[in-house]
Amino acid sequence: MAITRREGLHALAGLATAALPGASAAAATLADDASTGTAPAGGLQALAATRGLRVGSCFAWSRPDADRGSFANPAYAALLLRDCGLLVPENEMKWQAIRPSATRFDLARLDAMIDWADEARLPVRGHNLLWHQPKWMPAWEETHDFGANPSRAAHDLLVTHVDTVCKRYGARIRSYDVVNEAVNPADGTLYDTALSRALGSPQATLDLAFHAARAAAPHAQLVYNDYMSWEPGNATHRAGVLRLLEGFKARGVPVDALGVQSHLVTQGVDARASVQALEGEWRRFLDAVTAMGYGLVVTELDVRDNALPADIAVRDRAVAEFTRGYLDIMLSYPSLRDVLLWGMTDRYSWIEGFEPRKDKLPRRPCPYDAAFRAKPMRAAIAAAIAAAPPRA
Ligand code: XIL
Repeated sequence: MAITRREGLHALAGLATAALPGASAAAATLADDASTGTAPAGGLQALAATRGLRVGSCFAWSRPDADRGSFANPAYAALLLRDCGLLVPENEMKWQAIRPSATRFDLARLDAMIDWADEARLPVRGHNLLWHQPKWMPAWEETHDFGANPSRAAHDLLVTHVDTVCKRYGARIRSYDVVNEAVNPADGTLYDTALSRALGSPQATLDLAFHAARAAAPHAQLVYNDYMSWEPGNATHRAGVLRLLEGFKARGVPVDALGVQSHLVTQGVDARASVQALEGEWRRFLDAVTAMGYGLVVTELDVRDNALPADIAVRDRAVAEFTRGYLDIMLSYPSLRDVLLWGMTDRYSWIEGFEPRKDKLPRRPCPYDAAFRAKPMRAAIAAAIAAAPPRA
């Protein structure tokens, strides 16, 4: 049974009122587009479509009505259906989620998510086929016995993984983060894992992941995804990513685009001044990436407000202005067509577990607050999209 975006929206907004603490707020927001004054009735994606762009978000799996950023939470689903033209599973495609052992796959949750997205006619990106750091591989992998011919065994383990995922979802997934965060930000070198030691080198491992993905999903955009960002302290990380991308080109490895995660960190109350200060060096990086022929995807946008005072209005304004300045720069690159948020509402953002504020106040990293009310950040995203040069 296919549901249209609008039918789904109405059905889910109705359901939402009954389900959750935040749900009535979500329903109220949905019922009253005019109150936010930020976008036409169809939401961010309707606006993005007029520019040849897509806006999306991560989403999760949960049991029905759990208070999670899940498709099965009607209040969260309503936000996805309102604003998104593209989704990405937050955790459910990672090895830790789908590889209970070297010989088994558990794809039930991922299947349910992709089925739901298909019914809502929302395309899904794949995240990811290899998060190449020991701490993000399943525990069994780091102690796995690769046997008498380790490079063959490691090759088969990785290719089977990529093949199984890509072939299961076929043309339903048209873009993959094939490799995630392989560069160590401390020195720009590539991480090692038990897999890469067995295979011979990290470089051989990453190359193989992309070759296997191209073979198994020839229709898909293949992305290297990382968090080298524009704030001070990231120069070594950016240089390492550039070297990796140069190497891919030189060796003919099939990589189509750089995924720029975009976990931004505000630098101060005057966000416009921060944007001005950061823009030059950031553009030099993006220019170097695009000059090599790579496309760009904003894959995981959210904003940490650690450096800002407690006052919510001040924080929200600075976050919105920082987001606007950042997106204006990103959207000036014609190859950028997809902007994905790492969550629609502060309520479920992963950020809360990560580098807390000194005053311990909850962060406000997403376009909707914890009660599902649109924030200035949502208006900033809409404004950046409205101002973007149209894509063909
Ligand atoms: C994060 C998820 O949001 C968390 O729920 C999980 O505990 C850890 O991973 N870069 C990425 C994402 O590529 O996969 C990460 O997602 C956030 C940073």
